[in-house]
Amino acid sequence: MKTISKFPDGFLWGGATAANQIEGAYLEDGKGLTTVDLLPTGKERFKIMEGYPSTLEPHKDVYYPSHQAIDFYHNYKEDIALFAEMGFKSFRLSISWARIFPNGDDREPNEAGLQFYDNVFDELLKYNIEPVVTIAHFDVPVHLIKEYGSWKNRKLVDFYEKYTRTIFERYKDKVTYWMTFNEINMLLHLPFTGAGIVFEEGEDKNQVLYQAAHHQLVASALAVKACHEIIPNAQIGCMLAAGKVYPYTSNPDDVLKAMEKDRESFFFIDVQSRGKYPGYAKRFFRDNDLTIKMEDGDEEILRNNTVDYIGFSYYASRCISTDPEILKNQTAGNVFGSVKNPYLKTSEWGWTIDPKGIRITANQLYDRYQKPLFVVENGLGAVDQFASDGSIQDDYRIDYLRQHFEQLGEAIEDGVEIIGYTSWGPIDLVSASTGEMKKRYGYIYVDRDNEGKGSLQRKRKKSFDWYKKVIASNGSDL
Ligand code: BG6
Repeated sequence: MKTISKFPDGFLWGGATAANQIEGAYLEDGKGLTTVDLLPTGKERFKIMEGYPSTLEPHKDVYYPSHQAIDFYHNYKEDIALFAEMGFKSFRLSISWARIFPNGDDREPNEAGLQFYDNVFDELLKYNIEPVVTIAHFDVPVHLIKEYGSWKNRKLVDFYEKYTRTIFERYKDKVTYWMTFNEINMLLHLPFTGAGIVFEEGEDKNQVLYQAAHHQLVASALAVKACHEIIPNAQIGCMLAAGKVYPYTSNPDDVLKAMEKDRESFFFIDVQSRGKYPGYAKRFFRDNDLTIKMEDGDEEILRNNTVDYIGFSYYASRCISTDPEILKNQTAGNVFGSVKNPYLKTSEWGWTIDPKGIRITANQLYDRYQKPLFVVENGLGAVDQFASDGSIQDDYRIDYLRQHFEQLGEAIEDGVEIIGYTSWGPIDLVSASTGEMKKRYGYIYVDRDNEGKGSLQRKRKKSFDWYKKVIASNGSDL
């Protein structure tokens, strides 16, 4: 008997990546150096991501995983053919700003960089795969940090606007789905990763971060404006690192704390989606003596250019307490740590596994914004091992995804409008938080290790055929 799918017709099943985690070719064909090209593996990586790099030049003899990554730059045809074989309806990728404007403030764009993405989009369209493009995914051209202090500086708004107008003009006939900034709320937690922020001595951190946030929010609204002008049928969204924050207990103090934690992230998309600063943010600025410098017309720009949809990543729910003893029991997570939730298991990297959380999070976002949602990241980072016959039996990944799809189906039944789902890293790629290759998300294995050794050969895992079946049945055969 054929089961009826909960997923709407035309649901955009696919996979998601970011330029710096797959492309490699970090200085090829005129590309400039970006923030991520300065991130080694190990402890030093975190220090830099938090905004404290010791230098803005790569060291000799240090291994930087983004420099070669999985070499998608030279393998994109083969990789896209594999996505097509799985039946992908969409593929999320980011454009590297520094391929288009190597320094960020160049007068003319780099034609070789533009051509590369033309080739990639053509290849996707050949298989009827819809490109979903993130305009900025954790990579600011390093020159913009050296010369202007990156997003601390209002000038970045102009450079970003020029970059966005250039790519909208160039790809207007090829790309319909866009997103302005990947996980825009990352800025508060890993400021170098999110916005190329380097702290100087004596700076008030919150002042720096919220001023940079204002610049990104205005830049995002101007990108929405440009996109709507240049590509009338386009859909342009924001992108949030999501995951409902649960109170550890029903103590109102915990509940209030959880609400505040949620709002720390919602702040960004409240502005992007509702077009104005929320009251709780204004209060936060007052209480903390923060003054956000705005230019005349900023409020109007924000008000008139809100996003069409809400893109979000979901890996885990989070949990918070006001009890100092309970707070000690932390576990890791995407962007944020969390109090360990006693009801839930965690991944090998300590990320909480909570399939119901995706339903709760999707409902919460839809209740709040009443705009279509797009799940643009989700998945399980795990160590994969070869069986004696050389295959990779990644049933743990299948289990994780199956449970999340079931809950996504429930969210759709709840009435939540969801455009599509792109799982993170359909092909193994470099981990953003650790720089490891060992933390694998893919349906496709890539022969490369944490030190950059390996043939880069691709190999289908067991989950490859499973995901193919899921897509073919539009989510009814899990
Ligand atoms: C998100 C990012 O934070 O999570 C991705 O948008 C990242 O770039 C993904 O790769 C998974 O995180 P990690 O650290 O496992 O790579």
